[in-house]
Amino acid sequence: MRMYDLIEKKKCGYELSKEEIQWMIQEYVEGNIPDYQMSAFLMSVYFRGMTDEELSALTNAMAHSGDMVDLSAIQGIKADKHSTGGVGDKTTLIIAPIVAACGVKIAKMSGRGLGHTGGTIDKLESIPGFRVAIPTEEFFDIVNKAGISVVGQSGNLAPADKLLYALRDVTATVDSIPLIAASIMSKKLAAGSDCILLDVKTGSGAFMKSIEDSITLAQKMVHIGASAGRKIAALITNMDIPLGNAIGNSLEVIEAVDVLNGNGPEDLTQVSCELAANMLYLADKGTLEECRSKVKEAISSKAALEKLKDMVKAQGGDVSVIEDTGKFERAEYFYDVIAQGSGVISHINAEEIGVASVALGAGRETKESTIDYHAGILLRKKTGDSVKAGDVLGTLYSSSFEMIETGEKLFRAAYTIDPEAKQEKAALIFARVTEEGIERL
Ligand code: URA
Repeated sequence: MRMYDLIEKKKCGYELSKEEIQWMIQEYVEGNIPDYQMSAFLMSVYFRGMTDEELSALTNAMAHSGDMVDLSAIQGIKADKHSTGGVGDKTTLIIAPIVAACGVKIAKMSGRGLGHTGGTIDKLESIPGFRVAIPTEEFFDIVNKAGISVVGQSGNLAPADKLLYALRDVTATVDSIPLIAASIMSKKLAAGSDCILLDVKTGSGAFMKSIEDSITLAQKMVHIGASAGRKIAALITNMDIPLGNAIGNSLEVIEAVDVLNGNGPEDLTQVSCELAANMLYLADKGTLEECRSKVKEAISSKAALEKLKDMVKAQGGDVSVIEDTGKFERAEYFYDVIAQGSGVISHINAEEIGVASVALGAGRETKESTIDYHAGILLRKKTGDSVKAGDVLGTLYSSSFEMIETGEKLFRAAYTIDPEAKQEKAALIFARVTEEGIERL
């Protein structure tokens, strides 16, 4: 086979065979196909798309390019979730303990922040002492005993995705629905869980800006997962507005603990509970209604909070900061951003809020940057709220006052205050996608 012929075939809109796709991924990972040819192929996919058969073949080839995690040493059903990434998205810290408290095992590998979006592993590392790099045997042991463990991705999980993602990043081919679907699902299939719930974010803070594109992405991922024999569903959720009020690592852990204590922000609580109920449903824990009741009970009984504490303890973290979040170290500087005009907040650009939090030190500007775990933003006003001049829109936290100055400019630019706008609350969940079809909510 020659890579030139495969590029030519895709460029002209013909379907590639499974064997061709497997060969291409294997040769690329082994370094036998140069980046310039793979870049040309990715751009052809960007414009031509992929059939369902091609997409399944690509995803499987990428998943099998490294370790396929075997979770059979863990008893019971294992469930995983994946968010396509957002701003203030700390749902894993809430959902994983809830689902574990309801008897479904969570053996989860999570990622770090990417661009303006945060990552679960960075958030967990803001808990003093918390270890995210854990040998496999210990990881299994923690899940068997505590029912839950969240660790960083092992070095050899879907290496083809690592190479392809880096190439897409510099060839303007990140925002291709089939390439995103293959990237996410290759890692999910390799990570080994029986049930997979996808949280496909849509809106200004997400990769997918429109609901229809998000549904298409969800359908493709659900189809890949189901074809690989996994139980899988997707919820399309709102990322036009940051989720909850906290953006930044330890600030988000504190807010997640608030939800598990029953006093978190309403939007975050609602989305997290619905995601958790859908995970339990996939794991055969009852009807969706019954699963929703189990989720409520796990929060009100504090069973889910106990699970979070069990995990923190097992992974070497300081449980006292979970028991009393006031014990988390605070950023050196904080600054209230005051509204200069009155009206209704008609829009918050979630991506720009994410960029502002990175500028404050909560994310990485470059691969080498170190994170300030206590930096970030607490939103005091969100889309649909009315404001008067002089009200606090949000509080910025950082260890550098210069960063606060930059962050303030970015934060202000993200807000649109309209004296004429009506006070309206946005929907939180737009649709549920399964192999059976799309349910608009
Ligand atoms: N997240 C991923 O893992 N891959 C993509 O391509 C986009 C988001």
